[in-house]
Amino acid sequence: MGEELPEHVAANRAYWDDRADDWVEPGERSWRTALGEETWGVFGLPESEVRMLPGDLAGKDAIELGCGTAYVSAWMTRRGARVVGIDNSPRQLATATRLQRDHGMDFPLLLGNAERVPYPDASFDFAISEYGAVLWADPQAWIPEAARLLRPGGRLHVLTNSVLYYLAAPDDEREPPTDRLLRPQFGMGRMIWPGEASVEFHPTHGDWIRLFTGNGFEIVELLEPRAPAGAESRHMPGWVPWAAKWPAEEVWKLRRQG
Ligand SMILES: C[S@@+](CC[C@H](N)C(=O)[O-])C[C@H]1O[C@@H](n2cnc3c(N)ncnc32)[C@H](O)[C@@H]1O
Repeated sequence: MGEELPEHVAANRAYWDDRADDWVEPGERSWRTALGEETWGVFGLPESEVRMLPGDLAGKDAIELGCGTAYVSAWMTRRGARVVGIDNSPRQLATATRLQRDHGMDFPLLLGNAERVPYPDASFDFAISEYGAVLWADPQAWIPEAARLLRPGGRLHVLTNSVLYYLAAPDDEREPPTDRLLRPQFGMGRMIWPGEASVEFHPTHGDWIRLFTGNGFEIVELLEPRAPAGAESRHMPGWVPWAAKWPAEEVWKLRRQG
């Protein structure tokens, strides 16, 4: 209620509101995905390989942190979960709301910052973020918040850019990553791409491990998937040959300890 947003959250709201039109068509396509055919990330990694969604979602409480057009929330709803999506961009949520109507779904969509979610402690069994809060929110804030929201034994699954991608990506992020280390690992974390005002967060693996374990999570798995043979990148076509050699993305799977 009139609360001032942290600087990076305000900058990212402006960025995503500005870009929301570009995500309408990908969102529409992803909403149409059939049960069991869900795909993830830049290269459309199949759910059967990455297992981002727990097999037993039916009847569970799930939250998507940075849901964008909310197709992941729709997939979880179809699998029988009671879902809440939260996103920082009114315009992304406008698309999500329209797609809910088109598909006859009705789960809560909250406008807000995943670093401060207006739900009581231990409200959820599962939290997920695909390039949402995991990339755009401050991990010092959203990871303890996810831990607070989850019940003991609850799971957190996230997918984001890999550390290696960050180190090898040119300053023009539309260009594919290179076979050289272009920026130092020491000091990586909060990042603003040249010419942009939006803020991303790229922790090192050591930082991720400290943040997860320091906030009551047990690490279940770190997946560093390879781009599938014949992959077509949805948003970054030039990345495919690179991502067949090095992991461009990573998936962390965590369990909330009791
Ligand atoms: C790339 S989209 C993620 C949604 C979807 N999985 C996708 O890949 O299109 C990134 C979303 O994160 C949201 N976001 C950024 N910072 C956030 C924050 N602090 N809290 C909640 N959502 C945030 C943006 O508004 C944007 O809709």
